[in-house]
Amino acid sequence: MTDNLIERAKGVLTSALVVHTDIVVKDAGGIYVEDVSGRRFMDFSSGLATVNTGHNHPKVVAAIKRQAGIFMHSGSIFHYEPVVLLAEKLRGITPPGMDMFFFSNSGAEAVEGAIKLARHHTGRQGVVAFVGGFHGRTYGSLSLTTSNILYRRKYQPVVPSVYHSPYPYCYRCFFGQRQDSCSMDCYRYLERLLKHLIPPDEVACIIIEPVLGEGGYVVPPAGFLNRLRDLCSRWDIMLVLDEVQAGMGRTGRWFASEHFGVIPDIMTIAKGIASGMPLSAVASRKDIMQAWPPGAHGTTFGGNPVSCAAAIATIDAIQEQGMLGNAAWVGEYALNRLRTIQASYDRIGDVRGLGLMIGIEFVKEGGPDPDGLRDILRRCLDKGLVLLECGVDRNIIRLAPPLLTTVAEMERGLDILEESLREAGAGR
Ligand SMILES: Cc1ncc(COP(=O)(O)O)c(C=O)c1O
Repeated sequence: MTDNLIERAKGVLTSALVVHTDIVVKDAGGIYVEDVSGRRFMDFSSGLATVNTGHNHPKVVAAIKRQAGIFMHSGSIFHYEPVVLLAEKLRGITPPGMDMFFFSNSGAEAVEGAIKLARHHTGRQGVVAFVGGFHGRTYGSLSLTTSNILYRRKYQPVVPSVYHSPYPYCYRCFFGQRQDSCSMDCYRYLERLLKHLIPPDEVACIIIEPVLGEGGYVVPPAGFLNRLRDLCSRWDIMLVLDEVQAGMGRTGRWFASEHFGVIPDIMTIAKGIASGMPLSAVASRKDIMQAWPPGAHGTTFGGNPVSCAAAIATIDAIQEQGMLGNAAWVGEYALNRLRTIQASYDRIGDVRGLGLMIGIEFVKEGGPDPDGLRDILRRCLDKGLVLLECGVDRNIIRLAPPLLTTVAEMERGLDILEESLREAGAGR
């Protein structure tokens, strides 16, 4: 059945879609994936930061099977319980005020919904996003995405009235500043943008990832998001937090914004929400959601009953198994150990993160080192550890294992990483 699968795939699937490994899966469970030859791999990518509860969590699998036997599709024709129950549950775990939801299928779709909601609600067109951000590949979301020029090449013109300001990426500051003497020029740039390019009273929303994902697993400096919050409140601009990658427990809290004490007007959720089943959500306040008139937005597949059942089981599993606390604890362990490793390996320029959303940046002679990183990732894969890269120069490991990874498993994973670094001669 799986003979020559990769070759067969090349014959029928477009080369535009990059598959990151040559692993042909036979089976998966928890943090492990087994290939057709019986080799087991630790998946520290969580299938692109998505299977936060691990692969095939039994509770999620049972919920999917149960719901598939009851009712599989509504197409906005019928009412069904899972979608309401899920919204009620999400209301209990999202930041205060996020109490109404619109469900769709992917992160990009949620971002599309968020932009439309912000424009509709404010009656303004302007959207401000951040250089380095990733928000999806559909035209509206692509207009915001700037994490890599590859995603935009040959697709211009994108949606108009979108402006960009640099993401606060302290290790490689756009303004050449150092963290200890930073005067937050990135925020000043944004203020200037609102004086030179678009007035704040024409801006519908400012959209930002509370922790940068695809762009490099970057944690913004203390106070940046709070300043955005103040700016938005002053000008009645909707603050949209794109929690597609950082949300659903990835950072050791339900949502990354909790680390900064910032409450958005609109929030997007996807990836980890349903443990791999296609589902996403736009969340907002009741007054904003209720002012969105019937038919102003819609979907055929969004809020699919099976996906909603998977999401309910996902939230329950995260709560019952204490996965948030575990992610915080194992993440802290990993950060400490990685900082110790960093002291012996000059190719590791920076280690940063929150919970189990950790970036390890590879450098050489002061610049990014994508070749060095590629070599390390290959060595790790040979030893049974799946890791994924990110960042505009593809020189950053995004460490994003499932939230139930134990300290012992993390230890094993980091042993493999350290062995690979040693073999590659990346030491001082
Ligand atoms: C922050 C963020 N927003 C949006 C998206 C788009 O999600 P999707 O690939 O499900 O469309 C992603 C995907 O990586 C993401 O990380």
